[in-house]
Amino acid sequence: MEGSRVKTIHAAIIMDGNGRWATRRGMPRQAGHAAGVEALGRVVEAAPDLGIGTLTVYAFSVDNWQRPKVEVTALMALLRRYIENETRRLAEGGARITVIGRRDRLPGDIAIAIASAERATAGGTRLHLRVAVDYSARDAIVEAAMAAARSGDATREGLSQQLTEGSAHRDVDLLIRTGGEKRLSDFLLWECAYAELYFTDRLWPDFGAEDLAAAVAEFHARERRFGGLGPSAVSAA
Ligand code: IPE
Ligand code: IPE
Ligand code: MG
Repeated sequence: MEGSRVKTIHAAIIMDGNGRWATRRGMPRQAGHAAGVEALGRVVEAAPDLGIGTLTVYAFSVDNWQRPKVEVTALMALLRRYIENETRRLAEGGARITVIGRRDRLPGDIAIAIASAERATAGGTRLHLRVAVDYSARDAIVEAAMAAARSGDATREGLSQQLTEGSAHRDVDLLIRTGGEKRLSDFLLWECAYAELYFTDRLWPDFGAEDLAAAVAEFHARERRFGGLGPSAVSAA
C-alpha cells in the first residue's frame, strides 16, 4: 500500500502531571494515574493517523520507586491491568507493544503479562508502542556498554553498534512532556540527541488527540538541521 511507504515519526512522551491533576480535584494521586491510563488510550488510538509509527511513553522511572508504597503499588496494578486489558485491542488495531527498562525488579505477574503481550502483538506494524517501565536512560547506556564489553567488541564502533542497533534504541523525532516541567528526567537521553522538544502545561490526564495533533503540527513546522544548514539556508544560497 502507498501509505505504508510514508516515513513515520518516533514520538516519545513524558506523561507527567497525574498527581497534580488528582490533588487539584481533592482526589488521591492514584486517581490521577488511573485518569492517565485513559489519556494513554486516547493517544495510542490517535497516533497512527498522525503519522506516528513508534510511540515511546514514560510510565515509571527507576527513581519512581522512591514514592510511597501505596502509590507504587497502585501504579504497578494499573500497568498490569493496562497490559492485560489492552493487548487484544492493540493486536486488533495492528499495534505492537514492547516494554523497555529493567524487568528484574517488577512483580513476577507483571513480567509474565508483559512477555505475553509482547508475544501476542509481535506481528503489529501500524504502531509500535514502547512503554518505559523501571526505566533509566543512563542505565540503558551503561547496559549497552556492558553488552559491547561482553561481546568482546568494546571498541568505539562496538559500543556505538550496541547503542544504535539494540532493539531498545531508535532516534526520537518529537519529545513531548506534559505537566509544565522542562526537563528530561533520565528519559531517552541517547535517542533524543536531535529530538524536537515540545513542552506543554497541560496535565497528562487532560491530554487528548487534539493536543497530540498540535504537537505533531508544531513538529512539522520546525526546520531540523542536524548540524547542517537545512533546506531554508540551502534554498536562499
Ligand atoms: C507522572 O505523573 C506519572 C508518573 C511519574 C508515574 P506524576 O505522578 O509525576 O504527577 P505529578 O508530577 O506529581 O503531578
Ligand atoms: C518522569 O516524571 C517519569 C514519568 C513520567 C514516568 P517525574 O514526575 O518522575 O519526574 P520529576 O521527578 O519531576 O523529574
Ligand atoms: Mg511528576
